[in-house]
Amino acid sequence: PKQKTLALIKPDAMEEHRDNILQEIRGSGFSVTQLKEAVLSRDMAEEFYKEQREKPFFKQLVEFMCRGPCLMLVLTKENAVEEWRLIMGPTDPEQAKETSPDSLRARFASDILHNSVHGSSNEQHAEEKIRFIFGDICSDAELTAD
Ligand code: CMP
Repeated sequence: PKQKTLALIKPDAMEEHRDNILQEIRGSGFSVTQLKEAVLSRDMAEEFYKEQREKPFFKQLVEFMCRGPCLMLVLTKENAVEEWRLIMGPTDPEQAKETSPDSLRARFASDILHNSVHGSSNEQHAEEKIRFIFGDICSDAELTAD
């Protein structure tokens, strides 16, 4: 069965790496079923990352995510959540370079905060974050059609 995940191209990667990342997404067999470019407000960034609220880097994370436009995408494919996480690689690009040198973060991220892309960590988060970013406009029909 097809699955959806939420992907973000973060502000640090938008200028130089956006096209490469989109190419990689399409080349990996994902359908981009929704897409939106926007600068997140502080409130939106705080809500989006509410699970990280107690982390020492939360403030920096919110500032970073608001500093310029993000590209937000719904990616649809079988096993999309896990597949997108594999393509992104580990959160920390230093680790990514060791364990997954072909991953997006190994290639494009500069450090653990400015790590170029985001992906939902599980199916429940994916649904919640997609609804948060895009509302309820996407029906599930496409997911059950085949
Ligand atoms: P992301 O996968 O979007 O989820 C949470 C984000 O917090 C993460 O990518 C990084 O941008 C950031 N992050 C995670 N761990 C750290 C850390 N130790 N120091 C700074 N930023 C971090």
